[in-house]
Order: sequence, then C-alpha cells, then structure tokens
Amino acid sequence: MIRPFQGMVPKLGSRVFVADSALVMGDVELGDDASVWFNCVIRGDVNFIRIGARANVQDACCIHVTNGKFPTILEDEVSVAHNVMLHGCTLKRGAMIGMSTTIMDGAVIGEGCLVAAGSLIKEGFVAPPNTLVSGWPATVKGELKEAQKALVAKIWTNYVRYKEAYFRDGWPLAESPKVEDERPGFEHGHPYP
Ligand SMILES: CC(C)(COP(=O)(O)OP(=O)(O)OC[C@H]1O[C@@H](n2cnc3c(N)ncnc32)[C@H](O)[C@@H]1OP(=O)(O)O)[C@@H](O)C(=O)NCCC(=O)NCCS
Repeated sequence: MIRPFQGMVPKLGSRVFVADSALVMGDVELGDDASVWFNCVIRGDVNFIRIGARANVQDACCIHVTNGKFPTILEDEVSVAHNVMLHGCTLKRGAMIGMSTTIMDGAVIGEGCLVAAGSLIKEGFVAPPNTLVSGWPATVKGELKEAQKALVAKIWTNYVRYKEAYFRDGWPLAESPKVEDERPGFEHGHPYP
C-alpha cells in the first residue's frame, strides 16, 4: 500500500517493487530498481525517508524517523535483511544490514559495511567504511574479509534480480498515488507535525 500523508506523496523511480502487504507512506523516495518486501512499514510522516537505487528492504522491516531531527537515508545498493528496525539513521552506499538488527537515531553505517545479524547499533554510532560491525550493543570488529565483501555485494544484486522475477510473474510495478493538492516534503518546508 502506497499512501500520501498531509499531501506528501511517496516518489518512486522506475521498476520499483513494493509488495502489496508493505506500507510506504508520506515523504518517502525510492530510487530506480529498489524493492520493498512483504510486511514492511516505511513511515515518512514526521521526517523524510530516502531509499536509493537498487536498494532492498526485506520482509518485516520497520523504517521510521524522529520528528524534526533525524530522517532515515539509505544510499544506493544498500541491503536491509529481514526484520530490521531502522530509526533516524544513515546507511551509506552498498552497506548490508543483517537480519533482526536495530539501528538507532543519528547512527551512520559506512559505505560497504556489513552489520552482523542481530546487532544493536546505538544512537550516534559511526561505522567506518568496509568494516564488520556486530554485537548487542555493536562494536567494530575490523576490516571486512573477502568472503564478507562478496556477501555484501551479492545480496543487493540478487534482490534486483528477484524483483524482476516477480514482475515477470505478473506482480505489478509500484506506482505513486495521485493526489489533487500535492505538497512539498520536509526538506522543502513542510511543517513538522
Ligand atoms: C557476520 C556474518 C557474515 C559472519 O561472518 P564470519 O566471517 O563467519 O564472521 P566470524 O565468524 O569470523 O566473526 C567475526 C567476529 O564477529 C562476531 N560475529 C559474527 N557474526 C555475529 C553475529 N551475528 N552477532 C554477534 N557477533 C557476531 C564473531 O563472534 C567474531 O567476533 P570476535 O572477532 O570477537 O571473535 C554472519 O554472522 C551474519 O551476520 N550474516 C548476515 C546474515 C544475513 O542477515 N543475511 C541476509 C539474508 S538475505
């Protein structure tokens, strides 16, 4: 389900997949070839959410923001595995977030990082690029090994392929709803609720 909120309409690139049981609402942008899988909630109601090209947000993830303070930004080719909670954080290009991880306000996960499954990333934590981060709460374990880099690179490419398989199977391309009085988003002056 893709819904406006206070005149702010999700903006979608080309060949985007949004599973019908996912909710994408408000000030949200999804880049070309992005995919959002079953039962996700992506709620851009009190700040904005940006999801880059070829990024994937797998089943049962929840993405939210903090009113007036922290948007959530996923750059291109980010993978977010099943059951992840992202709140007010930034994931740099090509990062991969393992299943059932929680990432809190102001955290920044560097380019190409691997966050191990089941991690807790505390507020304001900064992960240097291309590192393995793990634990509850998480610490930086060091530079990624070759096998870990290969895993990070494989998942987003797999998901671009998977959503194309769904389109071939008859699942619809995601479309933005039409609204009469569309309004600009938070970056362009929409008042925070
Ligand atoms: C990180 C991961 C890839 C394991 O990689 P690995 O090369 O086998 O890592 P290692 O076993 O060498 O572990 C390196 C360190 O990280 C720790 N670690 C690895 N996975 C961890 C996890 N999930 N939680 C906590 N710590 C973890 C290890 O204990 C080790 O710590 P140490 O150096 O203090 O001993 C794997 O645990 C993981 O999380 N994969 C992601 C799975 C996923 O979500 N897939 C998406 C499906 S689409």
